[in-house]
Amino acid sequence: MRRLSTPRIAITAAVTLTILGVAGLAVSQMPALPAHPSSAVTARGLLSQRFDDSTPDAEQVRRGQYLVAAGDCISCHVREGGEAFAGGLGLNTPFGVIYTSNITPDLGTGIGAWTNEQFYRAMHDGKGAQGQDLYPAFPYPWFRRVSREDDDAIFAYLKTLPAVSYTPPKNDLSFPLNFRSFVGAWNMLFLDSHDFQSNPGQSAEWNRGAYLVNGLGHCGGCHTPKNSFGADKSKQELHGAKLNNWIAPDLTSNTRIGLGDWSVDDIAEFLASGRNAHAAAGGDMADVINYSTSFINDADRRAIAVYLKSQPASPSIASSTPDAGAMRRGTEIYSDACASCHLDNGIGQSRLFPPLGKDAMLQQPDSTGLVHLILGGTRVGVSTSRPSPLGMPSFAWKLTDQEIADVSTFIRNSWGNEASPVAASDVSELRKKLDLQTVRLTDNSGDH
Ligand code: HEC
Ligand code: HEC
Ligand code: HEC
Repeated sequence: MRRLSTPRIAITAAVTLTILGVAGLAVSQMPALPAHPSSAVTARGLLSQRFDDSTPDAEQVRRGQYLVAAGDCISCHVREGGEAFAGGLGLNTPFGVIYTSNITPDLGTGIGAWTNEQFYRAMHDGKGAQGQDLYPAFPYPWFRRVSREDDDAIFAYLKTLPAVSYTPPKNDLSFPLNFRSFVGAWNMLFLDSHDFQSNPGQSAEWNRGAYLVNGLGHCGGCHTPKNSFGADKSKQELHGAKLNNWIAPDLTSNTRIGLGDWSVDDIAEFLASGRNAHAAAGGDMADVINYSTSFINDADRRAIAVYLKSQPASPSIASSTPDAGAMRRGTEIYSDACASCHLDNGIGQSRLFPPLGKDAMLQQPDSTGLVHLILGGTRVGVSTSRPSPLGMPSFAWKLTDQEIADVSTFIRNSWGNEASPVAASDVSELRKKLDLQTVRLTDNSGDH
């Protein structure tokens, strides 16, 4: 499992940079994160557990369960082999590891003794039970837009969980980040002082989408580029960003690198199952689908889509003509290694092998996601509606750095795609960063 996207890591990084006065340094990529927990099934089971009317405050509890899915809480608050919501997952940052908290209702080690007010302070202001600053690795910069009513429902649901007595390890952060008070400075500089503001000029559906995307869904946590302080780059919301050696692509209406060619139905289908006629979800997005968007209802997925479709296109990016030699070598590698699944002209097979023509993921200016996929492979799991287990094999042992670079350059510049060439050095650099022996196969079981 992931988990700390680079943008979120960058937040912590930024605090140190601020303190040390070395702002402007780029934040480096993170080492690979721990693999999926074995308790994943239980976690998904909890999200689909039914509460009958005899449950105290049944209505509110059901609502809270739904909102916990919308907020993707489980992806972070479970460790390998541990109980869902008991926390203890270590999030790697350049300065050490931050562990997620136990948010089960255990009195001693969880949040069983918390009041509604304390829970709201955590979600809204990033404050712990004693008023201490929580690290923004906990996505409160987004969660602060959640309404009080919704926070109360989430808390009511969390209180129904089995209490687990478990204390996560102490954070292993270096000076000066180990002092929580440093987070206060970042909050003062960058925390949006507004709660969610609805836009009366837009439909109720659009506003619901905005509330989910910018609140519980914290989509911008991964999809918005960060400045050197780790805060969202203003005016570049959802323009795409790099995290965990993947690219969370542009989600604006840009027709080349964004969702310009996707319909509302396409987006809703992708959020429900991780697949559609254009793409298949890999990387951290598979976790988001697994624990979050596959559990929300279609009305909400459509609301998210309607909001995303209204995002003005990001500026178009110039590309250069690729080297003819690389294109020629790339064609050959493609027919040998790739065409058996993606077919000769890159048309693929609908919802089995994604088509590669006019593909947003392929045309991202930064090729990290593509090279990661070719090196590591990925797996889209089984679901009732999509029973065939499918995988993209890893090519790390079959192709050299130069071959991966050439085939990448070729597919980034074929069938309507246009993007910068990939160099062998880009591939070797990423190969070194990825721990390919334990490369995480995406466990997107998708069964709902
Ligand atoms: C991206 C990972 C991530 C996600 C998603 C996430 N959390 Fe957390 N959460 C954390 C981390 C890390 C901490 C610990 C922060 C610290 O120690 O400063 C934390 C701490 C908390 C705390 C404070 C607990 C305490 O004892 O101080 C609460 C409450 C909480 N999370 C609730 C939630 C809820 C509810 C959701 C879903 C709506 C959620 N979290 C989603 C990473 C996450
Ligand atoms: C933890 C990080 C993370 C979060 C949170 C996240 N995403 Fe993603 N998303 C990614 C990554 C990484 C990819 C690329 C996956 C791939 O390359 O297969 C992606 C891909 C996508 C795509 C496919 C884009 C394309 O052109 O292929 C869509 C649509 C999307 N995300 C929507 C969302 C929405 C909506 C939310 C919020 C509800 C969200 N994401 C939250 C990391 C994230
Ligand atoms: C055995 C079948 C198979 C082979 C061979 C194969 N792929 Fe794939 N490919 C898949 C599947 C399945 C997916 C969807 C998995 C995912 O994205 O998580 C996929 C996804 C992709 C994507 C992501 C497209 C998107 O928009 O989501 C790209 C790019 C890609 N493959 C390129 C290649 C290249 C380049 C090669 C040859 C080096 C190759 N594939 C070989 C099965 C295959």
